[in-house]
Amino acid sequence: MNNAEIVELAHQNLINTYGCVPLAFVRGTGAYLYDADGNRYLDFFCGLAVTSLGHGHPRVVRAIKEQAEKLTHVSNVFHTEPMARLAARLCGHFGGGRVFFGNSGAEANEAALKLARRWGHDRGAGRFEVISTLGSFHGRTFGTLSATGQEKYHVGFQPLLPGFHLVPYDDLEALAKAVHDETVAILLEPIQGEGGVVTPRADYLKRVRDLCDRRKILLILDEVQTGMGRTGKLFAYQHAGVKPDIMTLAKALGGGLPIGAMIAKAEIAQSLTPGSHGSTFGGNPVACAAALGVLDALEQDGAMENAASVGGYMLERLRKFAKGCTRVAEVRGLGMMIGIVLRGEAKSVADACLRERLLVNATANNVLRLLPPLTLTREEAAAGLEIIERALAGTPAPAATR
Ligand SMILES: Cc1ncc(COP(=O)(O)O)c(C=O)c1O
Repeated sequence: MNNAEIVELAHQNLINTYGCVPLAFVRGTGAYLYDADGNRYLDFFCGLAVTSLGHGHPRVVRAIKEQAEKLTHVSNVFHTEPMARLAARLCGHFGGGRVFFGNSGAEANEAALKLARRWGHDRGAGRFEVISTLGSFHGRTFGTLSATGQEKYHVGFQPLLPGFHLVPYDDLEALAKAVHDETVAILLEPIQGEGGVVTPRADYLKRVRDLCDRRKILLILDEVQTGMGRTGKLFAYQHAGVKPDIMTLAKALGGGLPIGAMIAKAEIAQSLTPGSHGSTFGGNPVACAAALGVLDALEQDGAMENAASVGGYMLERLRKFAKGCTRVAEVRGLGMMIGIVLRGEAKSVADACLRERLLVNATANNVLRLLPPLTLTREEAAAGLEIIERALAGTPAPAATR
């Protein structure tokens, strides 16, 4: 099928929740994707921070193939080696703890919210409320939607769940004021992704950690987007020198396969007991095998170091460019998570990049979000940036090449 045929078939049969670009991809390799008409695209989108090792990474492909030939599913009332090994590897990086596996970021956060409530319940003090922040994004289930601080996602779904309270991001005073006797946890992204790559002040997480310790409440960090090397360290909180009580992962964890994880300190994790939570597909052996391949690559192939250095180059070049471009208000981010904050909307710039076969995401109305593969070379980075700079400068695009 060609692009037009796939797009038409999809339009006729899918519920239109995504407002799709009329393009269908059929294969990918490294930093490039190929559409059904044979056109090649440079991918600074990465399935929204999912394919962080690029497309078709040999370690991930091999792990998936080998595991698919052996076993694809058993009930979670039994164990599998990939799930046990992945849990051990994640706990090793977290510095102890216990893991629960789901299939997405929303499920990982939902598990974190349920654990926090159960932990509060076990303390017998009527603690249940979770404080989260304006501009945040935590998922689309009712629990995670209730914690999400963006009204546009709430429209038509009210009433949301009780027991959530929103405060401005990167505002410690507001946070401290909001904590009361019924508060059980604070839920934050170390960098707000969907909200526009919003980076807090350097000491924010540390001071939130201190507040949680003082008030004896839990710190839950949503690393669904920032985790797995995206910012140049395995987890973004490592830049701040703090450790959360609970952390959630998804997106890049499975290298393209659906998997989410909630990791909690062991003494807190005890609050979830047999029958209290679960997921039929959670910790699927093929997805866990893929995630082990991702961890191997991150630990052994220098992808995170590359993200830090090539990401640093991109940030520096964009900041220099921004000085001479009135369209750009600010360039922010860390590692391979970059936000170009524009004066005016960002979608038309993303569209101009698409015409030059570069995939970038526009978010929060005025932010161009770059989430390239951590394995991006400097040459590929430069090629993508030239397209972005041209689109921002508003110069006409040269004829597209195959
Ligand atoms: C920080 C964060 N948390 C949670 C989610 C939800 O993840 P999923 O779409 O896998 O449910 C996202 C998705 O964009 C996210 O960026």
